[in-house]
Amino acid sequence: MADLRDTVERRLTALAPSGQDALARAVRHALLAPGKRLRPIATVLASWELGRTDLAALDAGCALEMIHAASLVLDDLPSMDDAATRRGRPSTHRVFGEDVAMLAAISLLAQAYAVAAATAGVDGATRARLVGILAEAVGIHGLAGGQFRDLRGRGGATALVEANHLKTGVLFVAAVDVAAAIADAAAPDAERLRTCATHLGQAFQLMDDLADGEFGPSDQPEDRGKTTLLSVLGPGDAVRRLAAHVAHAQDGLRPGGLLATFMAGIFESAGTVPAHGPADRVEA
Ligand code: IPE
Ligand code: IPE
Ligand code: MG
Ligand code: MG
Repeated sequence: MADLRDTVERRLTALAPSGQDALARAVRHALLAPGKRLRPIATVLASWELGRTDLAALDAGCALEMIHAASLVLDDLPSMDDAATRRGRPSTHRVFGEDVAMLAAISLLAQAYAVAAATAGVDGATRARLVGILAEAVGIHGLAGGQFRDLRGRGGATALVEANHLKTGVLFVAAVDVAAAIADAAAPDAERLRTCATHLGQAFQLMDDLADGEFGPSDQPEDRGKTTLLSVLGPGDAVRRLAAHVAHAQDGLRPGGLLATFMAGIFESAGTVPAHGPADRVEA
């Protein structure tokens, strides 16, 4: 797993623009800051779970990381979450200005499509499908729609589950969709992993809210007081729901496989899921 993280890091560095002007530096600041690289790692592991044995899904995973990085740049803007820091560093607009930060986000999105369109080792129809999956994940039925709901939506639990799916879950679902396209997976196998990714997204956003919401330490005090699924459910229910989503996600994976181990690791490190305890079933 550590090797795969290094491989992702090297590929992202190679794909990043090399120029010295502020825009190129802002793109590198956003993309190469120390993130966990969960989406590219999940993409490659999903392609392996679905039968590939090579790194054919690496670039599509890096494209998802570019989309993720762009979404974080935009999320941190003063008109959105107004965050001073990201990944332990000053947010992109705090270093380069809002104008350059927005252009860096656009550049990252554009490069993500270009990288997917140039994927080696698959046919033209698959490349077109990869670009389509990414575009869907960015748009009104994905990150943009989710961020809109996060900023302007109403706060009921059902609406918040939907918003969390769009702003966070859809990118994990896209990771398994691109993996399935590259692995030419059978429909039931692809569907099984999509369900996992949907639960992973719900669990992940709850974990993120627990980590930096009003119930935990936050380097983003601006987020406090915001209506989240956590603030609606309260910490007890939120942790139970989180555990249930993790259990559901694990149900669909090969026990002891790399993807199951990777997913368990995401939540172990957070320490928010009780090690033993009832994982009551909830629907995503
Ligand atoms: C943070 O995502 C934003 C959410 C979707 C909750 P990550 O926790 O994966 O962020 P990085 O990539 O490691 O910085
Ligand atoms: C992160 O969401 C941005 C997207 C998922 C698009 P949040 O605003 O909930 O997460 P953090 O706490 O800033 O990383
Ligand atoms: Mg936000
Ligand atoms: Mg935020």
